[in-house]
Amino acid sequence: MSTAPGARHTLPEFGRRATDVLAEMYDRKRGDAEWTRGRTFSLVYPTGLADVDSVLTEVNIAYLFENALNPLRFPSLAVMERHVTDMVASMLHAPDIAGAGFSSGGTESILLSVLVSRERAAARGVTKGNVVFPASAHPAFAKAAFVTGLDVRTTPLRDDFTADASEVAAAIDDNTVLVVGSAYGNPHGVMDPIGALSEIAGERGVPFHSDACIGGFVLPFMEDLGVEIPPYDFRLPGVTQMSADVHKYGYATKGASVVVYRDKSWLAHQTFRYDVWPSGAYRTPSMAGARAASPVAAAWAIMNYLGRRGYQSILKDLIATTERFKNGISSLPGLRILGDPIGPLLSFTSDASDIFAIGDRLDDRGWCCNRVKDPSGLHMMISPLHARHCDEFLSDLADAVANTGVSRGIGARYNDE
Ligand SMILES: Cc1ncc(COP(=O)(O)O)c(C=O)c1O
Repeated sequence: MSTAPGARHTLPEFGRRATDVLAEMYDRKRGDAEWTRGRTFSLVYPTGLADVDSVLTEVNIAYLFENALNPLRFPSLAVMERHVTDMVASMLHAPDIAGAGFSSGGTESILLSVLVSRERAAARGVTKGNVVFPASAHPAFAKAAFVTGLDVRTTPLRDDFTADASEVAAAIDDNTVLVVGSAYGNPHGVMDPIGALSEIAGERGVPFHSDACIGGFVLPFMEDLGVEIPPYDFRLPGVTQMSADVHKYGYATKGASVVVYRDKSWLAHQTFRYDVWPSGAYRTPSMAGARAASPVAAAWAIMNYLGRRGYQSILKDLIATTERFKNGISSLPGLRILGDPIGPLLSFTSDASDIFAIGDRLDDRGWCCNRVKDPSGLHMMISPLHARHCDEFLSDLADAVANTGVSRGIGARYNDE
């Protein structure tokens, strides 16, 4: 059913046949990014493993209609949620007294972490706080500051796109409620100096959030595989809170992230309680009221299905695939990887041609690489499925480099015009 451009779409008077509704949906879906063919480099993190997909599909169906709002009615969800948060806390070496909460994604975990920090600072008399974060931190921190009424202080990056610890130190003042670093960051996949940043914050008595939304399900298993990783988690005394997304490299379907605090008593600041209404005591541990249940089940199921060994095995191949992409890109004339990405995420530029024009040529062939700016580059989050599509991508990239043409003028944009 089509609506005239600009007109408001209205509820159909009579229901339509399911076959027609589904046909229309699948028809529209044809215009979406072809992630199952390895064409996207963010948003979806496919393993390409049929057994993983069938576990995820089954648990999603099993919990499609439930509601995680009320653990008294759905105790199975409460148990799975606790198992997921416990597992993530231990992966990140949180101490026994740590506490962790489940959320719908990295943005909500970060929002909760910022809220908790604001409340803790308020207890020591800060009325107009600020959050200090490097320019590469995810926009979720700016959004969280906006929602919680805090000021934002962004600090410039070093030439290798990592946080500049001295700039961060200079930005902290008595009203700073939280300092942030990325382990690792989204734009270039590089590790911030979490050790130095958390120490600086700790010396000033300010909490420090190590954002492992992407890295939380990569770095622990890289370490298991013997890769040397600079410290980034609760083993650092200055790290007070972390976020790790099960719905990224944890391979759960969307809607699953964990926020971990060094002290479980801090969780009280993100728990909302209300009993001044006729229905009595009401409590939510995160932002939502009614809450999808399937992400909880999916996160629990995939972590139990894969286990530590399963994640290690997937990552071993993913590291090899990432090396193939890196070597292939670096071998093409003028192309250069930006900074020193630690995991399966990279951005690259061209010293010889217009990298955005190269991006356009890749778009023409159905590939979806986000653009980055300062300097201009193309961005890739590599997933296990890409192993099957690496050669084809590199061949199309070589062709794009040889026939760059003119840029259509599409600049760096994530999901906006
Ligand atoms: C480093 C980092 N932090 C936070 C987020 C926000 O996560 P989400 O999109 O799940 O809200 C992202 C998303 O890509 C990220 O890369």
